[in-house]
Amino acid sequence: MTPMTPMIQTNPRPPIVAPPHPQWPDLDPTAKQALKDRIRGLLKAQNAVLVAHYYTDGDLQELAEETGGHVADSLEMARFGAQSGAETLVVCGVRFMGETAKILNPEKRVLMPDLAATCSLDEGCPADAFTAFCDAHPDRTVVVYANTSAAVKARSDWVVTSSIALPIVRHLAARGEKVLWAPDKHLGHYVERQTGADMLLWDGACVVHEEFKGFALDRLRRLHPDAAVLVHPEAPDEVVEQADVVGSTTALIKAVTELPNPEFIVATDAGIFWKMHQLAPHKRLIAAPTAGEGATCESCAHCPWMAMNALQSLERVLLTGDQEVCIEPTLRERAVIPIRRMLDFAAAQVSAPRLAD
Ligand code: 13P
Ligand code: SF4
Repeated sequence: MTPMTPMIQTNPRPPIVAPPHPQWPDLDPTAKQALKDRIRGLLKAQNAVLVAHYYTDGDLQELAEETGGHVADSLEMARFGAQSGAETLVVCGVRFMGETAKILNPEKRVLMPDLAATCSLDEGCPADAFTAFCDAHPDRTVVVYANTSAAVKARSDWVVTSSIALPIVRHLAARGEKVLWAPDKHLGHYVERQTGADMLLWDGACVVHEEFKGFALDRLRRLHPDAAVLVHPEAPDEVVEQADVVGSTTALIKAVTELPNPEFIVATDAGIFWKMHQLAPHKRLIAAPTAGEGATCESCAHCPWMAMNALQSLERVLLTGDQEVCIEPTLRERAVIPIRRMLDFAAAQVSAPRLAD
């Protein structure tokens, strides 16, 4: 990859306070089974389906699959919500995923186990400061990562997820458009290097992926010379540069199932190991090292907001309905345009290779 210095805007990043990991009481197998059965009953009675992200707890992913729901990356989660015939979507993930589901499906009830489950990228990109940034650069096409609020999406021209960012930015660059990118500077810099597009980046980062350390990964790779290194592009450059595969959560899972390596070093949220292990039980999965500095836990790479999704919080919302995602209609009308643009682009791409997939 060509080394290049990213053009990053200089507004101070708002302080991000990641919550402590929620401590859910341990359930013995009988209690867990009973809880799962109660949730199944509630889903059926409410004509509801679960749409879960790969970073959520394995029990939730399993339940989603067993009850006609879906487990996916953020692009596929958005697609599934629109295809499902259910009256209620229960989105197990973080708030932007619930908001995207509601924006695309305003007629459906969209619940989340906990509406406080946000994302450091979303928190680090307040709509007012972002609008001022866009207003200062009217010559640039505004491309925002899906991990943003509805208000930020409403100010954008395109929404992208990690699985579709490269082809969309390549398409814009081929049309001679200069890009204003927000909020993840690491993903933005990766896209810039891969596409050669002229990009101005917002200064945001994922608190989970930013903890992966290049020097420690280098040491670990020497200990496991047969391992393929899989990296989500929200990780810093020095980690991405050591990857055999860089891509969305779906792309990394696919790599574990398709590559012949017996071992994989995985630099993304540890929640992904559940699906990787389910699909490739004989492969050895090794967590890429985090140095622990600044993280909310010593050495784990698990998103504290994703961890708010649990069987207990899922049952609670199905009983109370109190964690419902609501989007103001005029905001929704604006935010749906760049999201649809992304989905239409992805649909048109189906027969062509997915470059970041
Ligand atoms: P994916 O779109 O690759 O699933 O990533 C979402 C995310 O939040 C990664 O941290
Ligand atoms: Fe946001 Fe990072 Fe959590 Fe993904 S892992 S939801 S980018 S904080």
